[in-house]
Amino acid sequence: MSLSLNRPDRRDGLRRLFRHPAEMLSSRAIRTQAPPISWLMQQAVEVEGLISLAAGLVDRASLPCARVQALVNEILADPEAGRDALQYGTTPGHHALRDLVRARYCAGTAYDDADQVVVCTGSQQGLELLGEAIYDPGDIVIVEDPTYFVYTGVLESFGCDIRGVASDADGMQVDQLALLLDQLRASGELARLKAIYVVSYHQNPGGWTLSLERRQALMALVHGLPEQVLLIEDAAYYELAFEPDQRPPLMATMDASGDRVASFLTASKPFAPGLKTGFMVVPPRLVAAVVHLKGNHDFGSNNFAHHILARALATGVFDEQVADLRAVYQRKAQILSEALHRELPAGSAQWAESSGGLYLWLQVPGVDTGPDGALFKACLEQRVLYVPGCYAFAPEPGRSKPSDRLRLTYGVASDEELVEGARRFAAALLSLGV
Ligand SMILES: Cc1ncc(COP(=O)(O)O)c(C=O)c1O
Repeated sequence: MSLSLNRPDRRDGLRRLFRHPAEMLSSRAIRTQAPPISWLMQQAVEVEGLISLAAGLVDRASLPCARVQALVNEILADPEAGRDALQYGTTPGHHALRDLVRARYCAGTAYDDADQVVVCTGSQQGLELLGEAIYDPGDIVIVEDPTYFVYTGVLESFGCDIRGVASDADGMQVDQLALLLDQLRASGELARLKAIYVVSYHQNPGGWTLSLERRQALMALVHGLPEQVLLIEDAAYYELAFEPDQRPPLMATMDASGDRVASFLTASKPFAPGLKTGFMVVPPRLVAAVVHLKGNHDFGSNNFAHHILARALATGVFDEQVADLRAVYQRKAQILSEALHRELPAGSAQWAESSGGLYLWLQVPGVDTGPDGALFKACLEQRVLYVPGCYAFAPEPGRSKPSDRLRLTYGVASDEELVEGARRFAAALLSLGV
């Protein structure tokens, strides 16, 4: 039989194989857009000498090279420990690590069970896995407005119907949430509500922490909702509180039912993002679904990283690193804020001082901060980059998005770059006649 590619039936077969992508791709792939941050990262690479106050990367100088080297040496010096670490792990992750995570974050609560901890390839993978476990197209998910824009991308990819609730210095306005829930009840849409998502500490992008009062009110509201509704707490910046003693408790630890909250934590921000290790703490009814789905993805994240982190947590090295980082970021937040106060014309921008995390959220009244606006262009000319605030507002049809907000980070830039970045940002603003 001839295998000639010119045979008409063969050509048809090839055509079918190399169909136009729109026909080839799944509906989920078509719904999945490139995150705006990819474009921003691209700018950072392409524009020479650019100071990025945009990318959420961590401080470079304080990455724990010596600490990780010592941990790795300890692991590999012991042949048994070394072989355990270099072997495949289990799908939910290294058990010792899961137990340390349980003890650190959930001891004495209704979530005090290592079996409810799943270790993921960053908390981002956990958010995606949980989404696979609970979302169908058309499900409603309520988010803070503004919110972590990578997660709204995830929700769009699942075909979720995203609804925003206004936030302020104390986090999501829970009275506004109650109004929205009333509306959903009245319109018969409550059955489609699947989750309420909050970034509960030093929010990305807003910087605020959900207050204790609001946490209590939110928990009470969730318990009044149908059982399919989950509270998703993204606690990515939990460890980076400058005053950890004043930090309100994790939402999972406040849920006496043990059934309504999934909390996400990460070792990326407080230790080393290169280890790309995050943790999810989920109610028992979700564990099997999440673990089965993770089995399909990778049947377990990087086991070596789990062993490094387990040792870091068990020996106190993790705590030493976190303590150092809190001081580093507190200093850097102050440097950036002071430089902005010095450089910007009085009243041209407003922001709250940081109490943790990596971000300042600015309002620049009367200025369009969008990617096509004059400020963004002027900043690129000055070689400084910020994240346009428009990306972070809920992509809810008909909901207005403030156009004068932007996010700056003091994470990755050096002290000198923060000062110079603020100078360039002010020069860009002044060039607009502000
Ligand atoms: C709010 C929030 N959640 C989750 C993540 C994901 O981080 P990772 O996957 O490194 O744990 C980030 C990263 O910037 C974040 O800002």
